[in-house]
Amino acid sequence: MTQTQIKIFDTTLRDGEQSPGVNLNKLEKVELAKQLERFGVDIMEAGFPASSQGDFNAVKQIAETVKNVSVIGLARAVKSDIDACAEALKNAADPRLHIFIATSPIHMEYKLQKTPEEVIETAVEMVKYGKKKFNHVEWSAEDASRTDLDFLAKIIEKVIDAGATVINLPDTVGYTMPTEYGHMFRYLKENVPNIEKVDLSCHCHDDLGMALANSFAAIENGATQVEGTINGIGERAGNAALEEFGVALNIRNDYYPFYTNLTLNEIKRTSDLASKFTGMTVPANKAVVGRNAFAHESGIHQDGVLKNAQTYEIITPELVGVQSNNLVLGKHSGRHAFTDKIKQLGYDLSEEKLKEAFKAFKQLTDRKREVTDDDLFSILTDIQTDT
Ligand code: KIV
Ligand code: ZN
Repeated sequence: MTQTQIKIFDTTLRDGEQSPGVNLNKLEKVELAKQLERFGVDIMEAGFPASSQGDFNAVKQIAETVKNVSVIGLARAVKSDIDACAEALKNAADPRLHIFIATSPIHMEYKLQKTPEEVIETAVEMVKYGKKKFNHVEWSAEDASRTDLDFLAKIIEKVIDAGATVINLPDTVGYTMPTEYGHMFRYLKENVPNIEKVDLSCHCHDDLGMALANSFAAIENGATQVEGTINGIGERAGNAALEEFGVALNIRNDYYPFYTNLTLNEIKRTSDLASKFTGMTVPANKAVVGRNAFAHESGIHQDGVLKNAQTYEIITPELVGVQSNNLVLGKHSGRHAFTDKIKQLGYDLSEEKLKEAFKAFKQLTDRKREVTDDDLFSILTDIQTDT
């Protein structure tokens, strides 16, 4: 099966930073950028240089620091934003420009107050202007998923002629469903002249919890670039989580003829750093990086995992840089996991003492949600002094 590379466009430092309450300083952005480089993203959106002097400085510093990844800056379809990107990225190893303009009826009428023809004209003019300063220009049709498909096809044809090298079709408000989003990519691939000359990119928000599924629908239908953030942070409900995308593609390589250049065992470190700098705690049950992603509580599951981890673990903790799985001792735990833990703690109990200790442990689980090593030590001390 021929394998196609899916390029990973990370926007943790731009869309991720747009999470309400998040504000990264320059040092934090640079540190995170270095870690994203280690993680192996192909393109890193460092920020929106025209939005503030602080963001401009951070983008400039990132462009001067990370050299094994393409750095991109965001611009509205206005010359001064494009100039700010060009200035901030002038020392980047592989600079890129990202221009966006809205294409949905509601955005064009109320937000931009422009006719569709004026939007086409502005988009074309700005892509041409950007091409004078950048070899790579990504153009985004903001709110693409709520845009009329024929209009989308028309404007995309024109921006490709103007020199765009990547066409991004964001589900800006997280509204679309996988089949529908996939159909949009397929339709455009089949109806826009010269579309094979550009990378098609997806950018999914998670308002209806569909961001990851929509990203997969996009690559199934011709997208070759996936945009997202670490831990899925971003505007409102956030963006597609890149660590989930990378791991899902890796685990299901029997199903998908695609690969990424991500270094998956950097995931845990990248997630921890993003969480620390943004102050956004990762939910315990979050896929791939949540505290419980490799934890097992029920006796049946613990017993299975002790016999063969693959019974209940489709991802090995090592794959994503987590040291080991974790058998949590709680009220659903069984004797097998309990005995295993006691041995790990260095105790070798007789059958009778073990029975006694297990009974004390079970009694404790009715009062306490999670039994810690300290709790076990005190149970074991009681039992041993009992002799
Ligand atoms: O969600 C969106 O539409 C965006 C664009 C700026 C690409 O973030
Ligand atoms: Zn977005």
